[in-house]
Amino acid sequence: MVSFTLLALATAITAATAQNTTLRYMPFGDSITEIICWRSKLWQKLQTTEWAVPAVDFVGSGKTENNCKDTKYDRDNEGHSGFLAIDIVNKKQLDGWLKTNPADVISMHLGTNDIVQQGKAVADIIKAFTTLVATMRTSNPKMKIVVAQIIPIGIGSYNTKIQELNKAIIPWAQGLNSTASPIWVVDQYTGFSSTADLRDGVHPNDSGDVKMLNVWYPALIKAFAEAKKEKTGATKREVKFLA
Ligand SMILES: *[C@@H]1O[C@H](CO)[C@@H](O)[C@H](O)[C@H]1NC(C)=O
Ligand SMILES: *[C@@H]1O[C@H](CO)[C@@H](O)[C@H](O)[C@H]1NC(C)=O
Ligand SMILES: *[C@@H]1O[C@H](CO)[C@@H](O)[C@H](O)[C@H]1NC(C)=O
Repeated sequence: MVSFTLLALATAITAATAQNTTLRYMPFGDSITEIICWRSKLWQKLQTTEWAVPAVDFVGSGKTENNCKDTKYDRDNEGHSGFLAIDIVNKKQLDGWLKTNPADVISMHLGTNDIVQQGKAVADIIKAFTTLVATMRTSNPKMKIVVAQIIPIGIGSYNTKIQELNKAIIPWAQGLNSTASPIWVVDQYTGFSSTADLRDGVHPNDSGDVKMLNVWYPALIKAFAEAKKEKTGATKREVKFLA
C-alpha cells in the first residue's frame, strides 16, 4: 500500500520535472506581422539574452521569407496579409491556429485592414478584439497578451480613425485585464513616421522595423518573465510536496 502510493507520487513528480519549460511565442496579426522584418530583429536581439533558443520558441503556421537583412531567425508566425480582425473572428481562425500551435505569449497588431479595406467601425473592431482575447484564454487560461496600438499608414486619410482605434484599445484592455492572463498595451503609433518609416505607405522599412522592435521588446520581455515564473513555479511546488 505504502509503496504503491510512493510509486504514484514519484510518477507525478517525474512528469512535473520533465515538463517542457520552453516558452512558445506567437506573433499574431496581418501583413504588418507577416511581411516585415521586426520579427527577425526581435529574434536576433533575444539571442543575446536569457530568452535565446531554447528558452523561447516562435510559433505559428506562417514561414514567409521576407528577404530580411538578418536572415538567421525563427520564421514561425501567425501573420496573415490582408486579414481583418473581424473576419478572423467570424471564421474562428484563431481557434484553429492556436490548436495547431499553442502559445504561452502572443502579440497582436491588428485593425489596419478593418479600417483601410472595409471602413469597419471602431466599436466593431474592438468587439472582435474581445472575442480574440477570449479565444486566446480558452486555448490557454494563462496566456500573456501584448496588444499594439497600431502604426500609422502613409496612404489615404485613415490615420484619424487609426488613432480612434488606438485610443479605444486602452480602456478596452484595462477592462479585460487579469492577473492570470495580463494584457499589456504597447504604443506602435507614437514616434512612428508615416513617411520615413514605411517602404510602401503601409509596411515598415528598416527604420520602421527597428522602431517596432523597440516598442515590442520591453513588453515581450515582461510577458516571457511572467510566463516563465509560472512554468518553473509549478515544478518547484511538486518537488516541495515530495520533501
Ligand atoms: C519543447 O518545446 C519546444 C517548443 O515547442 C520544442 O521545440 C522542443 O522540441 C520541446 N523539447 C522537448 C524535449 O520536448
Ligand atoms: C494589466 O495588468 C498588468 C499587471 O498584471 C499591468 O502591468 C498592465 O499594465 C495592465 N494592463 C492594462 C491595459 O492596464
Ligand atoms: C524608409 O522609406 C522611406 C520612403 O518610403 C525613405 O524615405 C527612407 O529613407 C527609408 N529609410 C530606411 C532606413 O530604409
